[in-house]
Amino acid sequence: MGVFASTDDPVSTGHEQVVFCQDKQSGLKAIIGIYSTALGPALGGTRFYPYASEDDALADVLDLSRGMAYKNALAGLDLGGGKAVIWGDPEQIKSEALLRAYGRFVESLAGRYYTACDVGTYVADMDVIARETRYVTGRSVEHGGAGDSSILTAWGVFQGMRAAAEHVWGTPSLRGRRVGVAGLGKVGKYLTGHLIEDGAEVVATDVNPKALAWVRANHPQVTLVDDAAALVAADIDVYAPCALGGALNDDTVPALRAKVVTGAANNQLAHPGVEKLLADRGILYTPDYVVNAGGVIQVADEIEGFNFDRAKLRATRIFDTTREILHLADAEGVPPAVAADRLAERRMAEVGRLRTIHLR
Ligand SMILES: NC(=O)c1ccc[n+]([C@@H]2O[C@H](COP(=O)([O-])OP(=O)(O)OC[C@H]3O[C@@H](n4cnc5c(N)ncnc54)[C@H](O)[C@@H]3O)[C@@H](O)[C@H]2O)c1
Repeated sequence: MGVFASTDDPVSTGHEQVVFCQDKQSGLKAIIGIYSTALGPALGGTRFYPYASEDDALADVLDLSRGMAYKNALAGLDLGGGKAVIWGDPEQIKSEALLRAYGRFVESLAGRYYTACDVGTYVADMDVIARETRYVTGRSVEHGGAGDSSILTAWGVFQGMRAAAEHVWGTPSLRGRRVGVAGLGKVGKYLTGHLIEDGAEVVATDVNPKALAWVRANHPQVTLVDDAAALVAADIDVYAPCALGGALNDDTVPALRAKVVTGAANNQLAHPGVEKLLADRGILYTPDYVVNAGGVIQVADEIEGFNFDRAKLRATRIFDTTREILHLADAEGVPPAVAADRLAERRMAEVGRLRTIHLR
């Protein structure tokens, strides 16, 4: 067992705080990672996953919490970046006692970290955690929660895509463009609706027959192709990965015919360097964490008392942020992924510095 003896060293990764939590009776083993509170309390979901080792769990929480700091900074939120992992199989060990024990550890951080849903945790779990802590969002509608975050996620992705269209074709519209949507799940379905409304032609794929049936019934004008490989090779203007991570890799980028990539999936770049492969092929990639921030914007709004119109307005600003990133990328001669990181770091440094002005 390697608590604080891991190969991933939080000191060298720049994290503010990493907390190991254990409640032996309920089986809880959790790690809360706080990367930065420069902009405010750290916000990020709790991933409940059967990691192969403690090192894997730690590596994931360090990586994810850092990512949240960048995402929240560019979403314009007054929130820092954090994330938590619960180590174990949720199917086997998730219980009221375990979730409430976890909630008490979140509470012990006195508001430095707000939790929410992620892989393996759901709205109902947040309601249980909330019985022990105030610092939880992403709750059920009955408990003041905002409900389905994919609505604003899809809206934000659409805004990012409009900004990319303006950059490449001169108008912030997808009218007359062929857009390939890979993954017709919660986000992909809403995105397809926005695209059709805007006058785009949608080509799509999914591995789930139910998702395909939904599209056939609701948007019969959508052209369906066999799989993601067929979509990548299709004659499309925009590629929208809305399924799993790693969609942009050494195989797909050379085959891609689209000029723009904008989608909801997290971690679309399979490895560092793929952003350069895209740039070298003249493909404009809008960083995933910028355009898919609608979901976190929604759960962040819930902390204030959810107001859909206010949250939608903020998600609409993903258009302006994407536009700014694309201009910065051109001005500094770097891929948009690098420009986005620079802009996030700038906001954390500039706005975070204001905390040094003493108030009382
Ligand atoms: N829901 C949100 O608010 C939100 C917010 C930010 C990021 N994201 C990310 O966006 C992506 C989509 O999220 P979602 O909520 O729509 O998930 P989802 O599970 O509802 O939908 C994913 C869809 O992709 C399909 N799929 C899986 N593998 C595929 C493959 N190889 N080829 C084609 N289709 C495949 C699934 O069948 C499913 O219909 C995920 O990567 C998620 O992490 C979602």
